[in-house]
Parts: sequence; structure tokens; C-alpha cells
Amino acid sequence: MAVNRLPLIAGNWKMNLDHLQAIAFTQKLAWTLRDANHDYSTTEVALFPPFTDLRSIQNLIEGDKFSLAYGGQDLSMHDTGAFTGEISGGFLRALGSKYVIIGHSERRQFHAETDEVVRSKVEAALRHNLIPIICVGETEADLAQHGPSAVPVSQLSAALSGIAASEIVIAYEPVWAIGTGKAATEEQAQQVCSALRIALTEVWGVDSGESTRILYGGSVKSGNISSFMRQPDVDGALVGGASLDVAEFSSICRFLKHVV
Ligand code: PGA
Repeated sequence: MAVNRLPLIAGNWKMNLDHLQAIAFTQKLAWTLRDANHDYSTTEVALFPPFTDLRSIQNLIEGDKFSLAYGGQDLSMHDTGAFTGEISGGFLRALGSKYVIIGHSERRQFHAETDEVVRSKVEAALRHNLIPIICVGETEADLAQHGPSAVPVSQLSAALSGIAASEIVIAYEPVWAIGTGKAATEEQAQQVCSALRIALTEVWGVDSGESTRILYGGSVKSGNISSFMRQPDVDGALVGGASLDVAEFSSICRFLKHVV
């Protein structure tokens, strides 16, 4: 964690919590963080609910002036038109979204999203003034065959190819660590996040390299967040399962209280 990059704790709810559950959860989370005197200027907190929850979340957050950011878990590469079932970046932006997750391994695996699709979605997000959270990560087989950094770095290069320097967030999520309870070690996370920062610097220059936040994701819990956040190139976390538990997620958001 570097002092000049605002840490970001992002909760990816995946296909969990309908809009009523989302309202109750978000209210409880905001109150828990308020009671703990959470300072959002030292750690940003963002929620990634299903699309159908976004309007309710927007109303709640704007109405009660909560300092939580939010966004979509995916977006269409198109802006509008005959694309049944898809959601455009413009729609996400119109609901007050700040971020959008792109290229999560579950999208790559279950929806056959290629590096080229991911790249088009990054372009679409930037067109609509959304900050893309670009997910990269290797499978267990990739790790055995290519070592730790090669696949994530090549996914990042492909996602940024032909795109001008912009504000993005990168999430390093080893596929073998997602939802398995088997997180990467802090050394593994640091090694890959550092390689990603070097790759980004080569493409977009030193300023982008220094200012871009790189998150670690994969079985992050309140018990291991501080070890990741002590690493110089890890600037936050993308949290799946543990983001569905208010006590656990708020404790992750308050990692500064337990980082020594
Ligand atoms: P997990 O998921 O925290 O449940 O491992 C992380 C993610 O998929 O973003």
C-alpha cells in the first residue's frame, strides 16, 4: 500500500442479494462503518451488486448521504441497440455508478469473454466515464505452465491495447484463489501486482504506473487483509464471499485498524 494511492475495498456480491436484501445490507454496512468512525478519505469502499439492485442502492446512498461508491459487475461493449439482456455503460452511469468490474474470471470462464471482449468493454466503460476495474489472473494450470506473472500481465496488456492512459483499477485475482478459501500468500500477491505495475508503466508511463490502484482478490478475509495491505504494490482488495457478511466486510474495510 503506497501513501499516495487511496486504498479501495470493493465488494463483489456476484449473483447474491435481491434489491430488498441489498437495501437492508447496505444500510447496516453504512451504519456499522459510521459507528466505527470509518474514515472514507483513508479507505474507499465500493459495492458491486446485481444490476437489479442498483436503483435501490442509488436511492439509499444518495438519500442518506452515505459515502459508499458502487458500480456494475459487468457492462456491454455496445452503447445501445438490439442486444437482448445487455446493460450499457451509459445506463450504469445514469444510476450514479462510479466503477464497473470488467473481465472477472467468472465472465471469462462462463461467458467466454476473450481478451478482445475485455478490451472492448474497457473502451466502453471509459466512453461513459466509468472507472473500469480490470480483472486479470491465472488458473492453476497457467501457474504450472507459465509461472506466476505471465498470464496476468498478458491479459492486462491485451485489455489496454490501443487505449490511451486513463484512470483504471487493476484487480489481480488468481483463479485458483477465488471462492476456494485458499488465498495467495502476500508474497505471491506482491510479486504479481509489482509485475502488473511494471507492465502498466511500460504501456502508459510512470505517472499511470504510480497512481493506478492494483487490488488483490481471492479468498480475502478480515484475517488476511492486513498482510496483503502491507505489500507496497497492493492498494486494496476485490472481495467476493466475505463481502456478503456485514461484520466481516466492515472489518476488511477497517484494515487500517489492524495493519501494523
Ligand atoms: P472470493 O471472490 O473473495 O469469494 O474468493 C473474489 C472475487 O471473485 O472477486
